[in-house]
Amino acid sequence: MKIKKAVIPAAGLGTRVLPISKSMPKEMLPLVDKPAIQYIVEEAVAAGITDILIITNRGKDIIEDHFDHSVELEQVLKNRGNDKTLKEIEALSSLANIYFIRQKETKGLGHAVLAAKSFVGNEPFGVLYGDDVIIGDDPAIGQLIRAYEEYGLGVAGVKKVSTEDIMRYSSLAVTPLKDNLMKVTDMIEKPSIDNILSHYSILGRCVLPPQIFDILEHTENGAGGELQLTDAMKTLARTETMVAVDFTGKRYDMGNKLGILQANVELALKHTEIGEAFKQYLKELTKEL
Ligand code: UTP
Repeated sequence: MKIKKAVIPAAGLGTRVLPISKSMPKEMLPLVDKPAIQYIVEEAVAAGITDILIITNRGKDIIEDHFDHSVELEQVLKNRGNDKTLKEIEALSSLANIYFIRQKETKGLGHAVLAAKSFVGNEPFGVLYGDDVIIGDDPAIGQLIRAYEEYGLGVAGVKKVSTEDIMRYSSLAVTPLKDNLMKVTDMIEKPSIDNILSHYSILGRCVLPPQIFDILEHTENGAGGELQLTDAMKTLARTETMVAVDFTGKRYDMGNKLGILQANVELALKHTEIGEAFKQYLKELTKEL
């Protein structure tokens, strides 16, 4: 079955990027001139996703506004003959069928994904974490979708991370399958140093079968007292195994301050309008460091 649906959880409190995230969703933080979540939606669309559910909460209405038509703005751009920007702005509201639902209490990523149950129905679907931007020629979620189509098993997008990071993320028990694919038989969220299964961690993308909802409904709250998606995926990995894809593309963590700055600098250097000028600026600046 072709995977056409994706869920973007964007209802977290973003406590690691306070104070900006008090009134501005971290998923809307700019990467040069686009909010982070736009890159994520564009990645999903490039991978053939047609229907996207964004999980939001109070104070995140501007995400909805961003993907809506702005009739007044479009008229002004038209009157000014600014066709290039007009096209870009119009395209934003017709990227995909985008739906929104609120997670009424911030009870964890697993709890947020559970809110997508009726949207997803009985199909496999992609999950793209709203604060993980992945830039590459081959959309990361598309790489996972291909693995799902080949194996018919849940798929996690992974990369090797440092010991320090693995203790803040998740750790997976993996054995090689082929190329950049591995079989996953177990996983743990936020392991202590003695419980690290490998240095492969799930970074922002997965493709899941609809059975995940039943599993989530029967999963106890885990790390941080929250319903963890990793705990539900652990059940999936232990019962029917999963596949891990060491995806190509560079991942930026918009959930922490350094990640936001790294993403901005690197994307600004590649930007068609300002890339060259920014590079010159950085060269000058680094002389003083
Ligand atoms: P994170 O754990 O990185 O987000 O979740 P957070 O809870 O906002 O982070 P901190 O620790 O407080 O800074 C990964 C993704 O899952 C979403 C977040 O918005 C983020 O995009 N999420 C997390 C939800 O949608 N609901 C939740 O209850 C928790």
